[in-house]
Amino acid sequence: MAQLTRRSFGALTAAALTANLTRSLWAREVAQQSGSRKFYIALIADTHIIDDFYVKGSENGVEDNESILLTTPRLTSARDLINSLSPAIEQVFLLGDYFHNYPSQDYDFYFKNKTRLDNAKAITDGFHMPIHIGWGNHDYDVRHVPREMSHRLFKAKFNTEPYWAFDYKGYKFVHLNNFLGSTQDNKAPDFNPNTGSLGEEQLQWFEAQLAQHKPTFVFVHYPLLAVQATEFKDFGLHPLLRKHADTIPLVVSGHVHKWVDFAHTYGPQHYIMAATRYDPNAYMLLEIDPDHGSYRFLNSNLVEWSTHYSKPYHTA
Ligand SMILES: [Fe+2]
Repeated sequence: MAQLTRRSFGALTAAALTANLTRSLWAREVAQQSGSRKFYIALIADTHIIDDFYVKGSENGVEDNESILLTTPRLTSARDLINSLSPAIEQVFLLGDYFHNYPSQDYDFYFKNKTRLDNAKAITDGFHMPIHIGWGNHDYDVRHVPREMSHRLFKAKFNTEPYWAFDYKGYKFVHLNNFLGSTQDNKAPDFNPNTGSLGEEQLQWFEAQLAQHKPTFVFVHYPLLAVQATEFKDFGLHPLLRKHADTIPLVVSGHVHKWVDFAHTYGPQHYIMAATRYDPNAYMLLEIDPDHGSYRFLNSNLVEWSTHYSKPYHTA
């Protein structure tokens, strides 16, 4: 335990240093021109918040067992950095695994006790701007907890729907839920929790959203590699993304907890972003420029691709 404490301290000190460097990067990068309609958003993923019911040592391997105990200070650090930026970040999107597993299968438990759901909300309520919550596999327990119960809990605790579109300044920000199709239905013959699927209703809804032809940022917890390409004959997420690649600037996933750049493998630019669980610097800061129909991933040069980590600006 002494070793864990020392390591954690080192990690947090480095995080504080990096935060300062990131803020100076931000000040230099973001030179506001008068009349510009540019605006700024941030993405975070895989926050994995726990509570007093969490049983220590229940993960696989040292790295996972250590990191799970640090999720609260790391998310808090990411939040505080995002709050500190000027010009301000206007919206934050969280790409799932908001909390880490279910301490009880009993719905009422969550209203009789203060749990990780309440802890996660208490941290994210500290964002100065709106935050939009998406769903990850740890926000469900598809083997043991009915998905309907998870949906009721999310509605009651976070006022969040299973999937959603948020329209803002001429853009659309869509969270797709890859836990609603048959591969996530524990009674279906093709049940396979490692494969995501959307289900017909959500696919139809997504197609209708895309038919509005607004530029659309897409967030989905599982990387596209792990989401069924097609679910009903030739109807599915992959062909929809390809067909609308011109109006989808970016598809961002979490789940893997590492930075991965799939480029245009699936049509639109596709990234997996890293997790605040492992690194408080795991956020994407995006500048969106409606006048030029473009965006910039402002901290991309801090990212160490294929790792959990973002590197400090001075080594870029
Ligand atoms: Fe995760």
